[in-house]
Amino acid sequence: MTSSRIHPSILAADFVNLQQELARIETADSVHVDVMDNHFVPNLTFGPPVVERILDVSPIPLDMHLMITDADRWAPEYAEMGADSVTFHAEATDNPVALARVIRSFDARAGIAIKPGTQVEPYLELLPNFDMVLVMTVEPGFGGQAFMPETMPKLKMLNEARKRHGIDLWLQVDGGITVDTIGIAAAHGADTFVAGSAVYKGNPELQIASLRAAAKQHRSCC
Ligand code: DX5
Ligand code: ZN
Repeated sequence: MTSSRIHPSILAADFVNLQQELARIETADSVHVDVMDNHFVPNLTFGPPVVERILDVSPIPLDMHLMITDADRWAPEYAEMGADSVTFHAEATDNPVALARVIRSFDARAGIAIKPGTQVEPYLELLPNFDMVLVMTVEPGFGGQAFMPETMPKLKMLNEARKRHGIDLWLQVDGGITVDTIGIAAAHGADTFVAGSAVYKGNPELQIASLRAAAKQHRSCC
């Protein structure tokens, strides 16, 4: 069984002290970096110049989550820059498989993100083309929202499909993940957990350890 990966989201960090905020999460597996364009989602964060500096100073790999309309234009750029994984939303490109191929050509992991209202069935046969599926457990755009348990059947379907394909596909959940909700996601097959508020509102090192322990407990039982 794969172990659980914890990816704190710097959306919940203090943007004026990013280097220190990154140092606080060095025990995590990757840092989750939310790029928003105020078009795909009604919020705006940052773009390539800021991400390049994050790459320079981060003690852990970068997990890019692109909530942007023009994924074909920008996803390859983040992959070429050196991000460990680049995830775009299913609606943000006409050809998800082709875009995943470009991302992989830069030796980055290719991810596809599924919003709460997006069906997962059309992508089940395409899964071998991806390294990760991000199941949004809130509406994308903002941190600090409540976990949506109604997204769990999609995770279960993806977990069954990856077993059927026999592939090493990471299943990521993002939104409202806390020590109280991580277990249900883990039990439905998630192995990669994004947590913004839950990590940065407390002592990040302790929060990361608690999240990892809670996920492990549920994964080992199901
Ligand atoms: C929301 C972002 C998340 C966000 C999660 O659109 O994709 O990564 O930072 O924040 P929390 O963990 O606070 O729900
Ligand atoms: Zn995210």
